[in-house]
Formats: sequence, structure tokens, C-alpha cells
Amino acid sequence: MRLLWLFALFIFVPTKGLSPVDKLRNKIFTIERQQWIHLNDQQWRTSGSADIDLAKVFVLFDGEIHRWPLAAPPVLSSSWWKKPQKQVRHIQEMYATFLEFMRRQTEPGVKPARVREWLSLAASVLSDPKTAVSRAMSQLHQSVLRDQMFQNVLQEQRKYYNRSELCELQVSPHQLIYDLYNTIALAEIKGYVMMQFSWMLLKIYRPGNITEEVNQTRVQYEGDAIQIAEKTGNALANATRELYRCDPLQHIEGQTYDQITRLMQGYIENEVNMNNENTCRQNCEYYNVAKYYNCFKDQFCSRQPKCKGHILGCYFVKSDMTVCTSVNSWWRGWFLHCSYCMCLCDDPENSDRYFSLKEATSNIRENKVVTGIRLVKQNNVFHIQISEGTLLKNGIVSPGSWLPNKIIKINDQNMKNGIDYHTLNHGTRAIDLDDLVAPAGWVLTGVRFRILGAHLNLNIRATKLNFETGHLSEDSMWIDNDNTDGSKTPRSRLTLNRPNLPTRSLAALPVDSKHDQFLEFTHSDFDKDAAQSTVPFIDVQPLEPYGRGVLLSGAGVSHRGAVGSGGFVALKLFTYDYAPHVRVRHPRDPSSPQP
Ligand SMILES: *[C@@H]1O[C@H](CO)[C@@H](O)[C@H](O)[C@H]1NC(C)=O
Ligand SMILES: *[C@@H]1O[C@H](CO)[C@@H](O)[C@H](O)[C@H]1NC(C)=O
Ligand SMILES: *[C@@H]1O[C@H](CO)[C@@H](O)[C@H](O)[C@H]1NC(C)=O
Ligand SMILES: *[C@@H]1O[C@H](CO)[C@@H](O)[C@H](O)[C@H]1NC(C)=O
Repeated sequence: MRLLWLFALFIFVPTKGLSPVDKLRNKIFTIERQQWIHLNDQQWRTSGSADIDLAKVFVLFDGEIHRWPLAAPPVLSSSWWKKPQKQVRHIQEMYATFLEFMRRQTEPGVKPARVREWLSLAASVLSDPKTAVSRAMSQLHQSVLRDQMFQNVLQEQRKYYNRSELCELQVSPHQLIYDLYNTIALAEIKGYVMMQFSWMLLKIYRPGNITEEVNQTRVQYEGDAIQIAEKTGNALANATRELYRCDPLQHIEGQTYDQITRLMQGYIENEVNMNNENTCRQNCEYYNVAKYYNCFKDQFCSRQPKCKGHILGCYFVKSDMTVCTSVNSWWRGWFLHCSYCMCLCDDPENSDRYFSLKEATSNIRENKVVTGIRLVKQNNVFHIQISEGTLLKNGIVSPGSWLPNKIIKINDQNMKNGIDYHTLNHGTRAIDLDDLVAPAGWVLTGVRFRILGAHLNLNIRATKLNFETGHLSEDSMWIDNDNTDGSKTPRSRLTLNRPNLPTRSLAALPVDSKHDQFLEFTHSDFDKDAAQSTVPFIDVQPLEPYGRGVLLSGAGVSHRGAVGSGGFVALKLFTYDYAPHVRVRHPRDPSSPQP
């Protein structure tokens, strides 16, 4: 009976919308205050089973911790995490020992520990210089605040693209700060609870007035918790929620990148083959948009595959051009110079130049959200693929798994260009570079490309959620940036200047695009690559925070590149905004019971 009454305290604490640790903290403030009411009751205190009851409450409290599962703490090797991590571990180890002792006391039929053992446990928490929790707590606090831990994370933002640890973990600085906060705050909660329960044990076993000490412990903890929550709030507000994959050390086709192929590929043709009369009266530049007619007298043309699409942007090449075979212009009759021209061939045959327009959505009826994203080339078509996980309470998401795609087959009669897929050609080869982020309280549940003014344009689907209960609502909407390059405030163009193959660059390429831009897929540089490739390449590395997924609220398309590099087009993600959920409720109220 007595214990039932104690349990009742675990309910009815207003914690709406708070992060799990902030909720937990509010709970323990209530639990702790309630325990002191009992302890101030002389009769209760001296009943002979006060210590066991206390142990039971502690075990119950531990159950509360597990009721709010937190994501596993990030495994980081950064130097600024070494010190805090050491203290966190120390507190966790102490907590495990403490819990083990308390749990043993509550087991039925177990011989109760002697008073000496209870007291020695309390001493190891409160005063033993080697193990004291208070010392670990203050060192943890210092290493977070004085050593500016969050500042260090914010600084890593700038180095993110350069294969930083955050990028390798696939975590946004915002998400990492939130996860570190949870880790630290949970350690502090455990430390605080151990200290309070230790004072309570002393209160039971030892006469004497410990009002001052208990008050001190509480004031210190509250102050520290508030300070850390405030710093976290500031850091979260300043930290970017964006994440993307960095350049791998080794580029592997089909694994880290893929290519659009033969879109406006460098192509050598003799002018005699580009007009109906087989004449050579013009110069190369005349053939700006041309096509192949026939092969005159079985010259060089019979030794290369002919261009069946448009021949574009021809210019004269001197004989020293070294593509496949040596080429010389020749004279037809007495005075007609039949030039070999360097042109671009836009021939859709055997060309990987398609993008699926099918949407990739998570199953919102089963409460699934998008946890990861990637581009994949399947049958010469680029598809967006997503991973989905189940949304749980308090912003937690179960580990994601990749969904199969609705695969587009170009030769399938039921698949329509412009509806099911998009075909790039020299007039329709632009992709919009946008950041799309759902409003506060909405999460990412789908992604697709559509065509907007002949540009490939990314859209996201967002669904409203109840952070508290972890339920997705019926409300979903598609979000896009429908600005075009022809509007009053047009999208700006990202120009690729004499682009080389991006895989030839050793240094990690930074993101050089911004929201509301677009770029056109084009051929690689004539001099560097004889225009044989289509750039940018497509980054196909899977993007999934921590490799398991977290709550997301946006996605985007960006370009990583540098002057003279074709770079990569890549998808990016935005993690959920946790800033509104981090708060410490000040528990002080005048009627608060005193030890
Ligand atoms: C990128 O990281 C590498 C290795 O850590 C370092 O040597 C290089 O200087 C960094 N580059 C930039 C621009 O910071
Ligand atoms: C305990 O000490 C505090 C001040 O330190 C005092 O206010 C309080 O009355 C004392 N309680 C008892 C029971 O002596
Ligand atoms: C607890 O300590 C703080 C500061 O040390 C003091 O301001 C406050 O009055 C104390 N409260 C009680 C109930 O002793
Ligand atoms: C972070 O944002 C707060 C205001 O939200 C500002 O006072 C603070 O200077 C910012 N810190 C950094 C490092 O940008």
C-alpha cells in the first residue's frame, strides 16, 4: 500500500513537448521532493524499512529512464569530446554500481545489507575523492562550458565538407549538439539522483542536520542544468541542420558516384557528312545545330559510331587533336577544304540520361518517416531512393531500412516521358538546386523530382507530427521552390567553367551552390577530357544520419565543386529542429518541502 502511494508520484508531471531528458529531469524533481516529505516524517523514517522503500523508489526511477529511450550517444573521437566523455562514463559506471546495490535490496528473500554497506555506498557517491559523483559532475560541467564544447561543434561546421568526423558520421551539427545534450543531461540526472538518494540514506541512518548540504546539492544541480540547457539552446539556434556526404577518399563508379552518359558528347565529324549535298562550302562554325547525313566515301566516319541525334556547336580542330585516331582535314577537288570539326553529339541512343519522376514516400499510415535518401542509377535511369523508420515518442525514430524503388524502364510502353521520367537533352538539361525545409512541427515523409519550366525540380512531402506521442497526422503537403530562371527575381545559374572530371580532384570538394540556383548538365572540357563525359557527376552515396536515421524535416539538391571541376550533384538532408524542445523547468516553488 505504502509503495503504491509512492508510485502515484511518477504520474502527472507537466512535460509537454520537452525532450526526453528534460521530461526526465522534471520527473526527478518531483520524485525527490516527495521522498523528502517521507523522510521528514519521523515515524516513516524510523519504521525499519525506509531504506528498502527508498531502494524501491530508486529502481522505479531507473524504470522511468528506460521508458524514455534515448538514441545511443554518438561515438566521437574529437578531442573536445574526450574530457566530457570520460566524466560521463565515470558517472554511468557509478550509476550501474549504485543501481545494482539498490536492486539487490529490493529482491524478495534477499538478506538485507548491513547499515555499514548502505553508508559506504553513500560515502562513495558523496565524499570518496576517487569516486565522488559530485566531483565528476563539476568536471563534466566545466569541460562542457569552460572548454566551450558546443563552440567546437559550431566550428566544425566550417570544416564539415573536408571529410570531417561529423560528415563521416553523417550527422548535422544541430543533431549532434542535441544528442550530446541528451547524453550529458542524462549523466547529470543520474549523478544528481545518486547524490540525493545518498543524502536520504544518511538522513535515515545518521542523526544530524544536513539541510544545508542537501540544499547545496540541489541548488548546484539546478544551476548547472539550466546553464547547460541555455548553452545548448544557443548552440542549437546557431547550428546548421543540413547534412550531406563528403567526397570519399576513393571515387568508385557505381558505388560513390555515377554518370550521365553521352549527353552532348565530344564528337569529330567532317563537314562533308553534315549536309545533304556532301559539300564543303562552309566552315565548322556554320554547323551549330546540324545532323549527320551520310558517310562520304568511307572516310574517318566509318571508323566511329555515327551520331544519330543532334550535332551541336561545331568548331574547327587542328590536326593535332588526339581523340582515338589522328585526324587530318583534306581537300575536295581544287579549292574546297573539307574540315574535320569538333562537335557535340546529343544522341539519346545508349545514353544514360533519364531521371525518374516517381515519388518516393514513406508509409505514413504505418507512422513511417523518411530516415535516409540516395540517388541510384538503375537501367540507365536515376531514381531517388529513401529509407524509412517508425516514428516513436519524443522525436525518436527506429533504425531505417531502404525501400525498393518503383523502377522506370524507358522501353516500357506504359512509361511516358515527361510523366514517369524526364529525358535530358541539349534543351532540357537543367536541374534546380534548392533547400526545402518543412515548417516547424512537420517532418519529411517523401521526395520526388518533377519538371518545372524544363528544369528537374526537387519536391518534398511533409507531414505534421505530434512530437510528444510520436503520431503522424493526416495532414501532408508537398513543398517546392517554384521560382524559375525566367521570373522577376530569377534563380541564378551556377556556371561550370571548363569543367574537368570531379574524380580527378584529390581534395574534398566544398559545396559551392546555394538555395535558389540551377545548373545545366554539360560536357567536360574539350582540352582536359575531349568533352567525352557529362558533368557534374551524380553522387550516389547513401545519406542516412549515423547510418541508421534520425528525425528529418527537409531535403535538397546541391553541388559540390571548385573552379575547373565538374563537381557532383548530390542530395542533402535537414534534421529536425529540436531547439523548441530543450528547456529546464525551474522546479522551485515556495511550498517545496525541505530536508
Ligand atoms: C582538409 O583536411 C586535410 C586532412 O585533415 C588537411 O590536410 C587539409 O589542410 C584540409 N583542407 C582545408 C582546406 O582545410
Ligand atoms: C537545520 O539547519 C538549518 C540551517 O542550516 C536550520 O534552518 C534548520 O532549522 C535546522 N533544522 C533542525 C531540525 O535543526
Ligand atoms: C539554499 O541555498 C541557497 C544558496 O546557497 C540559498 O539562497 C537558499 O536560501 C537556500 N535554501 C534553503 C531552503 O536553505
Ligand atoms: C548563437 O546565437 C545566440 C543568439 O541566439 C548569440 O547570442 C550567440 O552569439 C551565437 N553564438 C555563436 C557562436 O554564433
